[in-house]
Amino acid sequence: MIPDSFIQDLLYRVDLVDLIDGYVPLKKSGANFAACCPFHGEKSPSFTVSPSKQFYHCFGCGAHGNAIGFIMAYDGTGFIDALRELAARCGLQLPDDHGRAPQHGPQRQALAESMARAAKFYYEQLKRSSNAVRYLKERGVSGEIARRFGIGYAPAGGQGLASAFANYGDPELQLAGLVIKNDEGRLYDRFRDRVMFPIVSQKGEVIAFGGRVLGTGEPKYLNSPETPLFEKGRELFGLPQARTAIRDNDTVIVVEGYMDVVALAQHGIGNAVATLGTATTPMHVQKLLRQADRVVFCFDGDAAGRKAAWRALENSLEVLSEQKSIGFALLPEGDDPDSLVRQGGGEAFRRMIVEATPLSDFLLRELSSHCDLTSAEGRARLVADARPLLGRMLSPLLRLQLVKRLAQSSGFSQAEVERLCSLRAIARPAPARVPRQAPSLLRPLLRLLLQKPVLASRLPLDLLPEHSTEARAIRTLCATIAASGEHALAYPALLEKLRGSDDEGLLHDAAAELMHQPFAEDEIDAEFGGAIAQLLESEHRRAFARLQDKIQKVGVGGLSDEEKRQYLQALNARGRASQAKV
Ligand code: UTP
Ligand code: MN
Repeated sequence: MIPDSFIQDLLYRVDLVDLIDGYVPLKKSGANFAACCPFHGEKSPSFTVSPSKQFYHCFGCGAHGNAIGFIMAYDGTGFIDALRELAARCGLQLPDDHGRAPQHGPQRQALAESMARAAKFYYEQLKRSSNAVRYLKERGVSGEIARRFGIGYAPAGGQGLASAFANYGDPELQLAGLVIKNDEGRLYDRFRDRVMFPIVSQKGEVIAFGGRVLGTGEPKYLNSPETPLFEKGRELFGLPQARTAIRDNDTVIVVEGYMDVVALAQHGIGNAVATLGTATTPMHVQKLLRQADRVVFCFDGDAAGRKAAWRALENSLEVLSEQKSIGFALLPEGDDPDSLVRQGGGEAFRRMIVEATPLSDFLLRELSSHCDLTSAEGRARLVADARPLLGRMLSPLLRLQLVKRLAQSSGFSQAEVERLCSLRAIARPAPARVPRQAPSLLRPLLRLLLQKPVLASRLPLDLLPEHSTEARAIRTLCATIAASGEHALAYPALLEKLRGSDDEGLLHDAAAELMHQPFAEDEIDAEFGGAIAQLLESEHRRAFARLQDKIQKVGVGGLSDEEKRQYLQALNARGRASQAKV
């Protein structure tokens, strides 16, 4: 574990405007800085950096964070790597990280260098292998596209890499997954007589390889093992090469195979990436939705492809938001994107992507195909099957749309579907969807606390309404501030503490609102006092309503003495208030 104090210190030392400006040139815009968002394609700048609060927010795609979040999102690195990068900028040394021993900086560096050297070697070997060149030609891959993807060839024979590395026995090469030691201790190349596809990170480093046999043989594709550089569930083949085309089309196409990506690029479709022989993870989808507003999954038209599409759907639900769309282009049985684009050409393929089935249609169609909708049981089953999926959806609007559609298909009313899918019954509930109470009051309160965290200690938490997502976020925020001791935390540090919490979204929104409309420093205290007075008043109103309810049911006689006293007091207060108004 890296100590909190180190993280806070780091966030304090880094200037976010400087940091981001090094990646995305920023322009002054009022009190903030702005640029076209690096995380989604756009023509006018909605990406905004607050120099005073030290966070960024994109009003287009909702990307939001502090310096650590920016490095993670931009470079696609993990938390520790982001810390390391920031520490290096500030001239600090990252404290020992016991949790992830194999990730030491120098070692990572050495691994990356080995991979780069191997990639260069394979790339050069391709020219020397007429078999490999013929194989690629037969599959319609031009020299230009082969260069673009850095496609290479791992020679047959046992120790090809020995001519690229001075010390073939270096354990580093085994760690990199390039060289294997057999039981007798003999060393040999992992990849032999294969066409090599380098997998390149967003930073531009080669982090793994996929190697295909020429023709037939098992396994068809051999992949690098996971290493400190390479975590399968995060990475996608072809992403750096696709970046510009993704931006231009505001769409990214996800396919299953290396060759699908290559064949599509060959036919002018540059915005495709491939998962690496694994299911699509939420991390994948999140990474892609940062770069484009639309993701289209285009999997093979066989049972495996259908299953992969369904997994992709399940893993998209939790990261999908209103501004984003996800589509499914299901191919004819027996085809994959590679074969299809070769038969039909780029234009037909592009049309298919545009006309892809929207996520909600695909979801309903798949679920309905397992239920007999002509029977009552079947219709009930449809709703029951949809329940866990609804539970994963974090966007209330998208969830509502789906509930409506489910109601149509099942014949239940919308309210019945809601009840059947009741959130309590779901393992990972979405934020409770109770009607928001006094949002007009709680929102400004949240903003006040974010702008001036010391106020937290003066907020009587018992005045907050119980069933409100804003109130919950305020409680979380106050608890976090209180736990940070005497010193009120700066926003980037608060963000860090709340990373991954259920309340994160609301806090991001509130902080974003502050960007354009901060409270004037000399008015904050008065605003805060006003907000508390309003809270008190609505608490009184609620108490009064509760008493009136009780009187309706049991009569005034049914009240306890204390309740009677409260009721009279409330009546008097109301009388005074209405007199004052006259
Ligand atoms: P496919 O079997 O669909 O291969 O595997 P493909 O992409 O159509 O390959 P070609 O056209 O015959 O060359 C899809 C993906 O699954 C992974 C690879 O990432 C491959 O691109 N895979 C497949 C493996 O990792 N190992 C295998 O043996 C097969
Ligand atoms: Mn194929």
